[in-house]
Amino acid sequence: MTAASLVARCVHGLEPTLAAEILRRGLGVITHIGHREVRFRASRLPALGLRTADDVFLLAAQGPDVGASRQGAAALAGLAGAADLAALARLRRDHGGPRGLTGVEVSASFLGRRTFTRYDVEDAVGRVLAGRLGVGYHSRRGAGAPPPGHSGWRVTLDGERATLLLRIAERPLHRREYKRQSVPGSLHPPLAAAMVAMAGVEPGDTVLDPCCGAGTLLIEAAGQCPGARLYGFDLAGRAVTAARENAAGLPVAVGRADAGRLPVRDGVAHRVLANPPWGGQVPPGGLLAASPARWWAEVRRVLAPGGTAVVLLPGVGDLPLALRQGLTPVHLQRVRVAGAESFLVRLTAPRPARGAR
Ligand SMILES: C[S@@+](CC[C@H](N)C(=O)[O-])C[C@H]1O[C@@H](n2cnc3c(N)ncnc32)[C@H](O)[C@@H]1O
Repeated sequence: MTAASLVARCVHGLEPTLAAEILRRGLGVITHIGHREVRFRASRLPALGLRTADDVFLLAAQGPDVGASRQGAAALAGLAGAADLAALARLRRDHGGPRGLTGVEVSASFLGRRTFTRYDVEDAVGRVLAGRLGVGYHSRRGAGAPPPGHSGWRVTLDGERATLLLRIAERPLHRREYKRQSVPGSLHPPLAAAMVAMAGVEPGDTVLDPCCGAGTLLIEAAGQCPGARLYGFDLAGRAVTAARENAAGLPVAVGRADAGRLPVRDGVAHRVLANPPWGGQVPPGGLLAASPARWWAEVRRVLAPGGTAVVLLPGVGDLPLALRQGLTPVHLQRVRVAGAESFLVRLTAPRPARGAR
């Protein structure tokens, strides 16, 4: 396999988690960690197996950031002119991507205020790429999705540099095949994968999601931790149906129950994973509607001594409730998903004191 400079993109706040996954999988050497990206020199396949990345790209070309003025967008056409398209097509195939570069689609993003729009950048770059390749360009100014088989390009401007990237896979990595059904508030799969990694699930562990929605956390856990016993509950029948459908064929059991009174015995769970229904997208129902404290009491009850809970919370205002139950927050990570700030929190349940029966 030919070594290549790769750029993995992720949710803001997960950069260290993604870097750790790249190293754990022995995919190569990290060369830079920046805003929503980790750059690495890949010496081994398959980068496409990364779970905490939104997507993985080949570095196609880079230069200085073009600044805020209107001419900046047009100047980015130079990046498209500089890319070695034949070498990129070869590397993309070597790294597990499809053959050939048929059709071009570009998505641009930038930090800071500019006097041009993302569409100006996309069109400037996309037209040059398509012209050089002799294929069609699909502009995102219209609403429609690009025809199948279009190669996905990305332009980022971070204040220092302008970077042109080529997606390796045909579809973004964060779009999981299993997610056939969704529910309001369903987790972004790479974020769920990061929560599973943070929980340190071991083979044979019992893992419980008391508000499992479409089952994202348990399905990601099934992929990362073979041998774990995975159980999900939700108050909404629609969520239970969605989770069962998404998890079909996986060792995940899903049932209907109130997270304020789970049908399991005390201390059964080595790990609890959840994004509970706080924060607006989904209102708490059942026993949780009256009291969020009830949720924490139940997490404490079902956790085994020394067990770990990893939860995604819209704020840290809940933590006193957790502390009151004897749960200790041991790690806090701020993340930004779809423009909203949330907190990943790892908590541990107390171990019995030495000599206690
Ligand atoms: C933010 S969503 C969870 C999304 C899920 N992690 C996923 O990836 O699809 C919160 C879930 O809590 C459920 N819920 C609300 N009140 C509940 C209760 N008292 N007991 C159990 N589930 C409840 C909702 O039906 C919703 O599916």
